[in-house]
Amino acid sequence: MDGEDPSNSTTSLLSRSYNADTSSTPPPKHTTVPFISLLLATCLALSGAVAIAFLFLSSSPPHAQAQPNLKISESNAEYSRPLTKLKRPVVIMISSDGFRFGYQFKTDTPNIDNLINNGTEAELGLIPVFPTATFPNHYSIATGLYTPYHGIVYNNFFDPELNETFTRATGGSDPKWWFGEPLWETVVNHGFNAATYMWPGSEAPKGKWTCEEKFCKKFNSSVPFEERVDTILEYFDMPSRKIPVFMNLYFPDPDSQGHDVGPDDPELTEALGRIDSMIGRLIQGLKTRGVFEDVHIILVGDHGMAAICEKKYIYLDDLAIPQDWVEYNWAILGVRPPASYSPADVVANMTERLKNAENGKHLKVYLKEDLPTRLHYSASDRISPIIGLVDEGHIVTQSRSAGDDTCGGAHAYDNKYFSMRSIFIGHGPRFARGKKVPSFENVEIYNVVTSILNIKGAPTNGTDGFPNSVLLPQH
Ligand SMILES: *[C@@H]1O[C@H](CO)[C@@H](O)[C@H](O)[C@H]1NC(C)=O
Ligand SMILES: *[C@@H]1O[C@H](CO)[C@@H](O)[C@H](O)[C@H]1NC(C)=O
Ligand SMILES: *[C@@H]1O[C@H](CO)[C@@H](O)[C@H](O)[C@H]1NC(C)=O
Ligand SMILES: *[C@@H]1O[C@H](CO)[C@@H](O)[C@H](O)[C@H]1NC(C)=O
Ligand SMILES: *[C@@H]1O[C@H](CO)[C@@H](O)[C@H](O)[C@H]1NC(C)=O
Ligand SMILES: [Zn+2]
Repeated sequence: MDGEDPSNSTTSLLSRSYNADTSSTPPPKHTTVPFISLLLATCLALSGAVAIAFLFLSSSPPHAQAQPNLKISESNAEYSRPLTKLKRPVVIMISSDGFRFGYQFKTDTPNIDNLINNGTEAELGLIPVFPTATFPNHYSIATGLYTPYHGIVYNNFFDPELNETFTRATGGSDPKWWFGEPLWETVVNHGFNAATYMWPGSEAPKGKWTCEEKFCKKFNSSVPFEERVDTILEYFDMPSRKIPVFMNLYFPDPDSQGHDVGPDDPELTEALGRIDSMIGRLIQGLKTRGVFEDVHIILVGDHGMAAICEKKYIYLDDLAIPQDWVEYNWAILGVRPPASYSPADVVANMTERLKNAENGKHLKVYLKEDLPTRLHYSASDRISPIIGLVDEGHIVTQSRSAGDDTCGGAHAYDNKYFSMRSIFIGHGPRFARGKKVPSFENVEIYNVVTSILNIKGAPTNGTDGFPNSVLLPQH
């Protein structure tokens, strides 16, 4: 653990991803990481040998990227398949919260496998934005923006200008919190219908999007998953010009199980089976209506999940940080000292105390403007002035006396960690069958959807030309 700093090798995973920081040339169509190395790497990562796993993983892809002209001739010859029944392209975007990349190998998932085998998949998963938490990531997927630009910098945060705190309850449907232009707004601004189902941000009216009840299902954790799927299916029974061209659907599983029991408990595996059966219900319903091969299904998750367990805590009491300075903590730390303190001095004091604190070497504190730029986590007053990056599997909490001794799962860590990755699977006329693409950040998805729908989207943090690397060309 003391030799090679794992962060150096793990960030190479990110740098070979297709994002704005790397290059403007399209990525190679295929990476050469063999399947077995993925499985091995996952095992190693889970057993804690993170550095080795990532060295192992990063051994081949850089060669692939060094050959930008690598082409697969069959896929070059392939064009998108024509619509047979629908009048125009339709996208259904499904989120399975906390669906860590690799979960699809834990149990039989015949329906997800169907989408993968007959669709296009991010071969080593979808890279979330930082912090790898639910609200920031769902809204980055919807807007194509990093968190400072879309405003949702964590699941709960303080806005000094508004002098108010955002939570789902206080801000879920108030547009003053939600910046950028989410897909549902883009679609209705173009004169089409869009339909949302509990997607974070969708309850806030924006532009021509008014969140009318028929097409905007508000958060309610009691609604059975079957009802969610069936609502989507019923939209296809509408007159064709009224069918929403963009629909989304949110499942809170398997995130909830991942938090409770960790990523490797049988309860989680069971939850995966249930998500798979909901995908099956959707596929079957679309087939019954004769539109399955016409519809674009995009299955994603917002982030992954890391196992956490007792004895991996870092206590804010040890760092002389009072509770009321702390805006968020757990798998990330956000501290806003009172105006009378210099944040730089507080960082210096914390760093000094961490040297002798229990597990202190597993937390690094930064002025937000000094964070690695790849995290895109400084350009907003809503981000705490002091941010702590927590090593995978560790947790920052206030006090020993609080008695946090659970074993379970957590996320919100640095997005360099493989455990934070989720999935991207696309199926439908614009997606090649059986194609694998290199991992990419979820801010690319907005432009993929607007490309499928043939509409012009708002400016995003996605990479120019990215959709061409994932989608089949049109005739
Ligand atoms: C892929 O699609 C083809 C054509 O619709 C179908 O025959 C086949 O069963 C599908 N494959 C899988 C694995 O679902
Ligand atoms: C911010 O709000 C709190 C109450 O929530 C109030 O006590 C405080 O005075 C406000 N600060 C400013 C600068 O308005
Ligand atoms: C939430 O959904 C349940 C189940 O469909 C329903 O009984 C309940 O009335 C809903 N609650 C709200 C606030 O709409
Ligand atoms: C830093 O630590 C010193 C010594 O413990 C203390 O006197 C000082 O107030 C601290 N400064 C800040 C900004 O926390
Ligand atoms: C992200 O996109 C927004 C909106 O176009 C832009 O203002 C911002 O500079 C971009 N940030 C980065 C890091 O590309
Ligand atoms: Zn979660």
